[in-house]
Amino acid sequence: MTPTYLLVEPSHYEVSYSINPWMKPGVWSEHPEQHLAEARAAFTALKIALRDAGGEVRVTDGAPGLPDMVFPANAGIVLDRKALVASFRHPQRQGEEAVFKSVFERLQAEGVLDQVESLPAGMFQEGAGDCIWDRTRSLAWTGYGPRSSPEAPAHIARVFDIDIVRLELATEQFYHLDTCFCVLPHGEVFYYPAAFTKAGLGLIRDVVPADRLMEATADDAARFCVNAVAIDRTIVMAQPTARLKQRFAERGYMVKEVGLAPFILSGGGAYCMTLRLDLATRGHSAGVDQDLDPSEA
Ligand code: ARG
Repeated sequence: MTPTYLLVEPSHYEVSYSINPWMKPGVWSEHPEQHLAEARAAFTALKIALRDAGGEVRVTDGAPGLPDMVFPANAGIVLDRKALVASFRHPQRQGEEAVFKSVFERLQAEGVLDQVESLPAGMFQEGAGDCIWDRTRSLAWTGYGPRSSPEAPAHIARVFDIDIVRLELATEQFYHLDTCFCVLPHGEVFYYPAAFTKAGLGLIRDVVPADRLMEATADDAARFCVNAVAIDRTIVMAQPTARLKQRFAERGYMVKEVGLAPFILSGGGAYCMTLRLDLATRGHSAGVDQDLDPSEA
């Protein structure tokens, strides 16, 4: 199976409101055309990087008035050909729910998905941004707090019949799990410790052996390098430091860097801009990285 990613074309992208501390509508509005042109170029570069790394990319249109649709990681959780459509905490993004639901229904009609489900009323859950599948350990890491509700992880476990780990996010800066936590295809976990509570850190360190844990620095996290997409041995991410590239090289990974500044202006990086559509939770033996089929990691 080729890893398949949904991306949203940035024609309607802008930074026109602020719902996280990185968003700078004032900076955007000084040169909106220039930022949009740069966003289009960055989007194209990301698409090419994903394809070069062996991914398949499906691009869907955005919608006017819904600039953050360019972050489809938040559109829903897709596992085993089932989509659980997101429910957004902030009114600015709630209009995306119906649009993404119809995108998933179209994917169902095309035979890419089998089922499209909605969340119970009153529960917030911001998609794969707060639910990261870990193939090595056969479980999902789920984030909650700033965006997703504390009850969302248990609901995800029921809907997909999977094991989950619940991680409370401790800061507004790292408001989605994918901004501070990244699972690599061969079992390493790259994470930014300051984004988690003491209890969350304890869980991470209980589940992942120390030699598989890689700590991100504050600078790595602020560059949105934790928000990365890894395909086998290639990690696609926003511009890292030379030191970070070196650390990944020592672990056998090649970093493919993409300039994503226009999207970081909205608090998003490479992972946020993608939604993996083909993840399967069954039929793999967990933990033995040499035996992993990298294309499914
Ligand atoms: N401006 C968007 C928001 O605040 C950025 C979302 C980034 N997505 C992510 N998965 N971290 O919701």
